[in-house]
Amino acid sequence: MDINNIKGVGPEKAKKLINAGYSTVESIAFSSPRDLSMDSGIPEETARQIITSAKMVVRSKENTKGGKLVEILSGKDAKKILGSMDHITTGLKRLDHILGGGIETCAVTEFYGPAKAGKTQICHQLCVTVQLPKERGGLEAPALYIDTERTMKYEHIKSVAERFGLDPDLVSDNVFYAYAMNSEALYEIVHKNLDEVVQNRGIKLVVVDCLTGHFRAEYCGRESLPARQQKINRIIHDLLRIAVSQDLAVVATNQVHAQPDLYGKSENPIGGHTVAHGVTFRLGLSTRKYNMRIVTVVDAPALPPDDAYFAITSRGLIDITAKDLSSKEPVKFSEGLEMEEKEVEKVEEAETIID
Ligand SMILES: Nc1ncnc2c1ncn2[C@@H]1O[C@H](COP(=O)(O)OP(=O)(O)OP(=O)(O)O)[C@@H](O)[C@H]1O
Ligand SMILES: [Mg+2]
Repeated sequence: MDINNIKGVGPEKAKKLINAGYSTVESIAFSSPRDLSMDSGIPEETARQIITSAKMVVRSKENTKGGKLVEILSGKDAKKILGSMDHITTGLKRLDHILGGGIETCAVTEFYGPAKAGKTQICHQLCVTVQLPKERGGLEAPALYIDTERTMKYEHIKSVAERFGLDPDLVSDNVFYAYAMNSEALYEIVHKNLDEVVQNRGIKLVVVDCLTGHFRAEYCGRESLPARQQKINRIIHDLLRIAVSQDLAVVATNQVHAQPDLYGKSENPIGGHTVAHGVTFRLGLSTRKYNMRIVTVVDAPALPPDDAYFAITSRGLIDITAKDLSSKEPVKFSEGLEMEEKEVEKVEEAETIID
């Protein structure tokens, strides 16, 4: 949809809006007059009118689920729309179960955890599973991987694709890639380029791996904290705006820092309240013996906290049970090994055998 269709947007304003990263009607409809004005240089009152007109264009389209959130809805309609969001399977039965079906679209999902916890591995797996047919839990759509750590491995994407019975070359070709070498580059990609790229390419999963790493390295000291938080906040805000307006899922990873407390030290995700309030779903990862990991749904709008266990293998992540956690060797990938329904529903108490 061309932004020239918005009443009051002529070629000159269209150019300003596109240069500022607003290249779709949806992203304009979901922006605030202040942001739109500050980003594009268009006066705030004019920006307000443009947003109103953009909302009318979005309303007139029978398109995305997120697009319907542009107006005030009756409880009945809201329930229908919010309850019908698409999900992307994680490829892990138990994790899908505790997430209410997988990674939700029109939302930002955060995976945080220490080094080697499996954050990047999960992101790789999702770049494959988003391409699965709908009946297998995918969205038959490409992914975009925004990489801040240079840890993307196309060979691994191919191995995971093979495991899911997909064509490795086709799948890896459908993972778009952007390298953000510093926090400013990450901000530019999200703020200026993302909207157009996801719409033109039909992308349904945007990965940011890692959201906070550059900020942590670049903004040192207490005095730079407000500026850092403001920038992170703006990135999350933009990611959510694009997720909702384009009906796609955003997955962002986050690091942790150790915090001394009464009981020794605990590991808290970076970004404090800004990230905690900004993301829709929050999942924590922790390492166990060998290739085994625990993932916990820490915060989700209508889901209770819960755990799932998995193992990292060369063919991607696989479900494991609490019993496997006491294994004397790494869990191996094994074709056709499906988790039983009762294990998906209920995770056994593992506290006694972990660590
Ligand atoms: N084929 C494999 N089999 C078993 N374990 C593997 C395999 N490939 C990678 N791993 C393990 O996965 C872990 C790396 O996971 P990942 O890169 O996802 O961590 P991360 O949470 O992204 O860490 P970081 O914060 O450093 O980016 C390492 O412990 C590595 O040994
Ligand atoms: Mg990583």
